[in-house]
Amino acid sequence: MITWSLNEFVEVDSTQSVLSKLGAAGADEGTVVIARRQTAGRGRHGRNWTSPEGGLYMSLLLRPPSSATLRTLTLASSLAVVDGIRDATGLNAVIRWPNDILIGGKKVSGVVAESNYVGQKLSFVAVGIGVNCNSEITSEDPSNPATCLAVQVGRKIDVAQLRRAILEAFAVVYEKWGKGGDVIEAARGIIETVGRRVIITTKSGSVLNGVASTVEQTGDLVLTLNEGKLVVHAEDVERLRVA
Ligand code: BTN
Repeated sequence: MITWSLNEFVEVDSTQSVLSKLGAAGADEGTVVIARRQTAGRGRHGRNWTSPEGGLYMSLLLRPPSSATLRTLTLASSLAVVDGIRDATGLNAVIRWPNDILIGGKKVSGVVAESNYVGQKLSFVAVGIGVNCNSEITSEDPSNPATCLAVQVGRKIDVAQLRRAILEAFAVVYEKWGKGGDVIEAARGIIETVGRRVIITTKSGSVLNGVASTVEQTGDLVLTLNEGKLVVHAEDVERLRVA
């Protein structure tokens, strides 16, 4: 099983940037960069990730042997975060495909997986995890409201304990994922998107309105439109909201 080697900082621009430099310099799989706050935390598609003190901000260095199954890694990572949140707080979070973690319909955590290649060959993946723990965050997008664990559970969150729980859960899920285990099946039960009518804005600007029928083994979402079924890849999605 993967072992974690923690590097803790008070403040960085982005744990993803710090970890990527370490990864490019040859750091081992299992290297973790943690910061108490970030000045330029980033989400998917270049969005900002508000990172005040009291939240959990960390990036994990993974060196999967091949890029063949990378599509499912974000979902596997989200599953690990859901498991860790449950273990540390007793709260049952769900996944809004592909990478948002929600409680009570509000976003509490986000996961991003950035792949780094040397030539054609995958060098490493930086998995970034942000969890709103003790501060209420105002979402920049009113259609995608945010919350924090402390509000949901009614007590202050011990960020170090949550971090341990997520890293433990991540090690278990990553081992299973690496052996070709069915992490998608495990995640399926907690993907709230399935069975709902959703509106997806793609990176190319198209708007798709349909019912999310299932998540395939590949991690792709199958959308049922009036015209038939469409397979949607996570990396093509700019925004997904439940209609
Ligand atoms: C998203 O929902 O768009 C993903 C957000 C990921 C935020 C985390 S916080 C730790 C790590 N460092 C970053 O700059 N981003 C990720």
